[in-house]
Order: sequence, then structure tokens, then C-alpha cells
Amino acid sequence: MAHPTTARSIQIGLAGLGNVGAGVYKNLDTNRNLILQRTGADLRVKRVAVRSLTRPRDVEVPADQLTTDWRELVADPEIEVIVELIGGIDEAAELVCAALRAGKRVVSGNKALLAERGQELFALAEECGMPIYFEAAVAGGIPIIQVLQEGLVGNHIVSIHGIINGTCNYILSRMSQAGLGYAEALQEAQEKGYAEADPTLDVSGWDAAHKAIILASLSYGFWIPADRVSVEGVQKVDREDIEFARRLGYTIKLMSVIRADEQGRVEVRTQPSMIPLNHVLAGVSGSFNAVLVHGDVVGETLFYGRGAGQDPTSSSVISDLCEAAAAVIHGPRPNGFVPHGLYGSPKPIEETVSRYYLRVTVEDRPGVVAQVATILGARQIGISSIIQPEDWDTEKEVTSLVLMLHDAQLGEVRAALAELQELDCVRAEPVMLRVEIL
Ligand code: HSE
Repeated sequence: MAHPTTARSIQIGLAGLGNVGAGVYKNLDTNRNLILQRTGADLRVKRVAVRSLTRPRDVEVPADQLTTDWRELVADPEIEVIVELIGGIDEAAELVCAALRAGKRVVSGNKALLAERGQELFALAEECGMPIYFEAAVAGGIPIIQVLQEGLVGNHIVSIHGIINGTCNYILSRMSQAGLGYAEALQEAQEKGYAEADPTLDVSGWDAAHKAIILASLSYGFWIPADRVSVEGVQKVDREDIEFARRLGYTIKLMSVIRADEQGRVEVRTQPSMIPLNHVLAGVSGSFNAVLVHGDVVGETLFYGRGAGQDPTSSSVISDLCEAAAAVIHGPRPNGFVPHGLYGSPKPIEETVSRYYLRVTVEDRPGVVAQVATILGARQIGISSIIQPEDWDTEKEVTSLVLMLHDAQLGEVRAALAELQELDCVRAEPVMLRVEIL
């Protein structure tokens, strides 16, 4: 292998030494020579900002590199790139803004920060002439940001369907394949280091929703406000629905869907959805992520890999560090991609269309199916199949009525559900899941 004649040393300030930060520190050291050979850059972590100097860690960092104040990293004239891995929003935004203003390139894996404050941060980045790199913010080790910015730059994006939260995918996989309860599966995911520091971000669907906002911004050129995306988490997924899904030929995944309609309005939604068992996405299990991107020129493309965890996510951070180093050494490499041209607009979620699965807990007596069908029919919602299992609950004298619905607008389905709940024969809040046809 050819060696560069002169190595250029790049000094890095690493803010945050949690799971991913420790992975960056460790893997930069392990693959230092490879990176040097490939890029001509000798990537050196000069200072590391941590919350506590005494907390036990996955990696050993010399005491003189550690500080509890990230401002020291920003103030250090030798540091050319700052890696933001502190998480959260307000302090992380302060850090990124300070670094950009100090003329430092920024690498961040913070999807919540970019989704909530991206518009302002990228505007500042442009003003300062300093880029923000964010490959690690979406889908862990899968280089999906580069795919959208470079590989598919010549495509209109027709749609993206993503399984982009490793924690939720792990939970649903374990519930479905090992029969685990929700709490047990979540605990396993946390122990394996997939979950965010605050796992409610994962299980509420918001971690995936933040990633979807970032993917939508790259695909459709605008930052969709967080209050215009639809988000449901996995907390309410019931084993009964996982079982019905299987009987019907589907599995349940936390799906993020980003799609433009014919008027160019963009839906950005994340929820547990049923997908056909024979689709390749149904086989994406555990902490793995997959992103199915449909471009108008390329057709369908699928990107698969570990979406969470120390090593996969640090691989993406290191890729960004190499890009930043290349920009320092060779000057910025314009790739012709303007991420946020502000040409998209959000689609009201009530107008989004899909198929649906409904489970209605009803009294098992004559005329009940007719009442339910009448409410749906009055709103022009078609039923494609009905199951009422014979294994009914003799104590409560109720049964599950499971309906698969044809394409309908969410607003109509929600209105029908509200009417169903008013029926005397309906004994519990109906369960509704989207059915994605991929
Ligand atoms: N908590 C995230 C997940 C990590 O489970 O996917 C990567 O963003």
C-alpha cells in the first residue's frame, strides 16, 4: 500500500465520552494507520470534554487530555474539528454555535439537535463557512447521509421507508421472536448500549422521528417542523397484535415513512406499522436498521446495517472526521448538493393515505359486525378482510374483531374510530395500525 509522503496532523476536540464517544476514541486509535494511509491525515484527539472526571469508562484517556469544560476545546487554536457527542439540545446547540464561530468544523451525531435546531445551525454554518457533518445522526453505521447527498443526488426521491431505531427494532424483534414482554426487551436493549441516555426518546418514536426529519430535509429540501410530523411509539404494541399480524402474513416494525405526493406535499411519519412478512424489510431484526430509498431514476435501493451501538455509530463519526480532515487539507469539496433549498412543504397528516389494521374488542352477539361495517362504510372505508376468532373470552363475553382496511385517509379512519367507540357493543379502545405496502 502506498504511504503518503507527508502526514498532516489534525487535532480533534471530542465533546462527550459516552458509548459512542468512547467508540470514536478507541476505533480512531485502532485504525489510525489505515486512516493515515488512506487519507494522509493523522487524526489525533487532543482534548476530551466529559461531565465527570472520575466516572469509570470503556476507554482509558490520559488525565491531561480530560476537561469538564467543552469551552476549552473551542478555545484551543490547534483544534480544527470538534465532535459533538454530548447529546441533548440546548447545551449541544451552544457548543456547535461556539465551535462554528471559532472557525472549527463540526461533527455531530445528535439527531434531536439537528431535527429541532437544524435550520438555524446550518444557516450559521454557512455564514461561518464551516461545515457540520452528521453521518452518525441517522441509522448508526449505515452511510445513508452520503447516499442521499452523493450517490442519489441525481434522483427525485419518491419515498423512503426506514427502520431507523435500533432499540425499537430490538424490542419488537424480541417480543415477536422470543415472546419477551415489552419491559424485558427494553432492558436488554439498554444493556446492549442501543438506547439513548433517555430511552423514552427511543420508545416514544421520537428518536426515529428526528432521523426522519433529517432524511426528509435532505430529500425534499426543507426542515419540517417537529409539530408537523406524526409520531407514535412502540409502548402500546400488544403481543395480541403481533400474533394477529403473523396470522395475517405480516410483522410489526417501527416504520418511518417519508414520501411526497403528486402535489409535492411531504408526509413524514413514524409509527408501528404492519409490513408483509415476505418483504425484505420484515427480515430486519434486532438492532439492525434498513432504509429503503426509492429514487425516480435509480428505482428501489436498500441500505442495511447496525443502526445503534458503539462501534457502528463510531464508524460514521470517523467517516465524518475523515471528510472534515480532507476539507482541512485539500479545501472544501463541493459536491453540488444543497441540502436545504426550502422547496418542500408538509402534508397534513390527516390527509395521508394507507391501508389499516383494526382490532375492535366487541361483545360477541348478533348484529355487531354489521354495526361496525356500517360506520366504516358510511365513510367510504372499504374492508378487505375480517377475522373473528372463535377463541373468545368466556368470562368477559367479548371477542376481538380484526379488520383489514383498504386505502383510506387517516382523518376518515380516526373519525370512524371515534364513532366506533361510542357503540355499546365496543368494550375497549380500538387498536389501529397502519399497513404499509412497500
Ligand atoms: N438509540 C438509537 C437507536 C441509537 O436505538 O437506534 C442510534 O441513534
